[in-house]
Amino acid sequence: MRRRDFVLGALGTGALPYVLPQGAVAQTGRTTIPYGAAIRIDPMLEEPDYRKAVLDYCQVVVGEGGLKWIDLRPDRDSFVFDQPDRLLAFAEEHGLEMRGHTLAWYAAMPDWVETIASAEEARTELVRHIETVVGRYKGRISSWDVVNEPIADHPTREAPIRDSVWQRHLGKDYIELALRTTAKVNPDARLVINDFDFEQPTDKARARRKAFLDLIRELKARDVPLHAIGLQGHLQGEIAIDKSGLTAFVAELASMDLAIMVTELDIIDNLLPGPEIERDGIIAQRAKDFLDAIGAAKRPEAVLTWGISDRHTWVPIWFSRDDGMPNRPLPLDADFRPKPLMQVIQDFCAE
Ligand code: G3I
Repeated sequence: MRRRDFVLGALGTGALPYVLPQGAVAQTGRTTIPYGAAIRIDPMLEEPDYRKAVLDYCQVVVGEGGLKWIDLRPDRDSFVFDQPDRLLAFAEEHGLEMRGHTLAWYAAMPDWVETIASAEEARTELVRHIETVVGRYKGRISSWDVVNEPIADHPTREAPIRDSVWQRHLGKDYIELALRTTAKVNPDARLVINDFDFEQPTDKARARRKAFLDLIRELKARDVPLHAIGLQGHLQGEIAIDKSGLTAFVAELASMDLAIMVTELDIIDNLLPGPEIERDGIIAQRAKDFLDAIGAAKRPEAVLTWGISDRHTWVPIWFSRDDGMPNRPLPLDADFRPKPLMQVIQDFCAE
């Protein structure tokens, strides 16, 4: 049994029949949840310990970059597929599933998109992009973060949707356009809307949950194709998880016949205590609370962390520590040794 067969089944593509692999059933009788990680392709191919960790632990990979507009579209007429092609070749060689991240986002955009001057032009560019990218990987990448982070940081009734080149020209209709176009190009694709900051016990998170549910209800009412919600899970380590709020949120999503994925789990630790044992314990507990709160409403169909080792993580770009100690947001430390967070994930996935 190749890992890919198992994962394809679990991720819900119609491409291959689901076949239960040996060892995929825990004692509870439930199947294990596929685990995966966001990958930086160059260091992963260059560093043997990075590569080994991915092969030892992952059933799913996603490019940390590579499929973003800034990487794919240096100018209006070019598509540069080098990074995703290499990650996909690696994934296929080793029987791993690869997810696609992402088709419509506000960030990581090349400067030229600012020259888009009308709704018609925006529609043409977004459709052309999705047709080209999803079309190229049809049958090979079958789960897409079609829309990434659509909800405003502080959503209001008047402005629930985040500003982006797409929102500016098309309003929130860009979301429907992106989903319908992806479904048209690849009817077997698993279509995901992916977003973050739903899990804190704050007014901000409550407002974001409400705005997100309003958006999803509207899409569902309009029969827009959508299969799963990606809960990123960039957890703020110093803030406890709003477990009941998160469970209720996931239950509401599940009641709309949507699957759940954890897509970008990591724990931002810049405000946590320095000593590693103490810090790792808090990090693991936050992740456990997050996963348990989701699982109490709906078992996610995949759990991915945003990176696998503390050696390669985006966290210090924005959240470096004042004491100068390295961040430890991921399941393996900088020498690829498993930390308590990995145990939490493995226990949850096998539960
Ligand atoms: O590739 C260049 C490199 O040539 C250059 O030397 C270096 C100098 O700063 O920059 C490199 O590019 C960086 C790129 O990551 C590759 O590591 C960009 O500056 C940096 O902006 C970029 O940040 C990424 C960010 O998304 C924007 O695309 C992070 O790695 C990535 O982890 C982050 O991922 C996002 C998800 O897509 C969506 N959810 C949140 C998550 C974390 O912010």
